Amino acid sequence: MIQLPFSQACENNKVYILKILRDVFADRKTVLEIASGTGQHACFFAAEMPWLQWQPSDLSETLPVLGPRCSAYAGENLLPEKALDVRDADWRLEVPDALFTANSFHIMSFEAVRGFFSVLEKSDRDDLVLCVYGPFNYNGAYTSDSNARFDQWLFQNDAASGIRNFEAVNELAASAGLSLQDDYEMPANNRLLVWRRGPSKTPR
Ligand SMILES: C[S@@+](CC[C@H](N)C(=O)[O-])C[C@H]1O[C@@H](n2cnc3c(N)ncnc32)[C@H](O)[C@@H]1O
Repeated sequence: MIQLPFSQACENNKVYILKILRDVFADRKTVLEIASGTGQHACFFAAEMPWLQWQPSDLSETLPVLGPRCSAYAGENLLPEKALDVRDADWRLEVPDALFTANSFHIMSFEAVRGFFSVLEKSDRDDLVLCVYGPFNYNGAYTSDSNARFDQWLFQNDAASGIRNFEAVNELAASAGLSLQDDYEMPANNRLLVWRRGPSKTPR
């Protein structure tokens, strides 16, 4: 049997994330996932939310990691993986009605995060939902000692990486016309942030 690239973090968090996405993406059609990594989230969420078309993407150099699992997906709602670097001003696709990314904002540089939001800012889509999962700092403070240690480790590996300040990211989101709808506390000191442009979802 072929051994597919594997992330234990994805396995640990996917069920918790799904609980929220199921509701947030209930009225969405297409989700563009940024920085899909091994494709575990893409395949799991596509299978669990069959009403969605799920578009996985990552840097071109990461596609050999992402491709094999996507190719093995049995359903029909997973679009072919796409090379996408958020630093590019042109993503060569139409921004769909939903975006998702996990554990990526602290890996890419803050300039790249800024680039991500500037593409959204240019999109004239008036109905957009963005979900971002990962660790964040609040008011310049870590939410746990383990996040502080993790941030130190990130810095030693790549000085441009690092846990982002929620307020700075929220400001970029606001510039792109997105309003914070929810900020969920997640296991292992992570957050799931939900921003929306357009009409709020009617409460069930
Ligand atoms: C820690 S992995 C997370 C992967 C996956 N989302 C997960 O939760 O396991 C970070 C990912 O960010 C991607 N990445 C880094 N810089 C990027 C950029 N500028 N544009 C798009 N993806 C990027 C990497 O290729 C990698 O797949």
